[in-house]
Amino acid sequence: MSGLETQEQLKRLTQVDLQGKTAIVTGAASGIGAATARALALSGAAVLATDRNEEGLRQTVEDISASGGRAEFVTADLLEGGAPQAIVDAAVEAFGGVDVVVNVAGIFEARPIEQMDEGAWDRQLTINLRAPFFIARAAVPHMREGGVLIFIASGTAVMPSPLYSAYAASKGGIVSLVRALAAELAPRGIRVNSISPGNTDTPMIGEAMADPVVRKQVEGMTPARRLGTPADIAGAVLFLASDAADFVHGANIAVDGGLTSSWSMVLSKQEWPEVNRT
Ligand SMILES: NC(=O)c1ccc[n+]([C@@H]2O[C@H](COP(=O)([O-])OP(=O)(O)OC[C@H]3O[C@@H](n4cnc5c(N)ncnc54)[C@H](O)[C@@H]3O)[C@@H](O)[C@H]2O)c1
Repeated sequence: MSGLETQEQLKRLTQVDLQGKTAIVTGAASGIGAATARALALSGAAVLATDRNEEGLRQTVEDISASGGRAEFVTADLLEGGAPQAIVDAAVEAFGGVDVVVNVAGIFEARPIEQMDEGAWDRQLTINLRAPFFIARAAVPHMREGGVLIFIASGTAVMPSPLYSAYAASKGGIVSLVRALAAELAPRGIRVNSISPGNTDTPMIGEAMADPVVRKQVEGMTPARRLGTPADIAGAVLFLASDAADFVHGANIAVDGGLTSSWSMVLSKQEWPEVNRT
């Protein structure tokens, strides 16, 4: 836009209209990915939902169909080298192209350094960093001008916690990868950005948050005094996928109730909960 916008152009910014677009969403069986897939479909996109959890995927696609949206799914395990290409091929076959990719799938395993063996390191780096890159790489040749790549990073990328070495490395890698790809692809009309959620109420942190003491502690150190919801993150995805974000390239948007922009975690003088310690 030039700065001399018409009323019509400004009006378009008030609506997220993804009619005619195709979106790939990984991790779509659960949590943030499921909410993202549903929100994109409600905005008019045809959604290729993917995950390794077929039961959850079916549920997401059923929810989308029940709301009048269009979705297909492909079951894929991102630990398998051929998965990124297979996912993009499925989207092209189902809907004829790719306009938006949202890399949501992720895992974390908190371990002390002595127990962060090659398996734990490789799983986290493969699912959280390697596969998202190769999905983007497979999708870009199919993207027209106006294509959008969105990666879900984490507040851990900028404010890591003890025991999170592999997870923090993978998410920090995402933030850096996004900047490099944004610089490379912006001249081709493709926007690349990341979102860093804070503690978000999904199965990923469900076990830890089931302890009311831990939950209260986490809520207490978050300036907004609550956990995020998958819809909070999906809202940022919709913004980044829309024309309203037309000049947003290489950004990492924190959606975390203020956690990483304040000293509240430090000031709370609380230990970060040691979850999933194996
Ligand atoms: N929940 C949080 O507090 C939080 C905070 C910061 C960042 N994140 C990030 O948000 C993203 C979504 O997490 P969530 O909170 O919705 O968790 P979730 O556990 O509900 O969803 C993660 C999804 O990824 C899928 N997945 C995991 N390994 C896979 C594999 N090998 N192949 C294919 N799919 C696989 C799972 O099946 C699951 O459906 C992740 O990248 C996570 O790191 C979450």
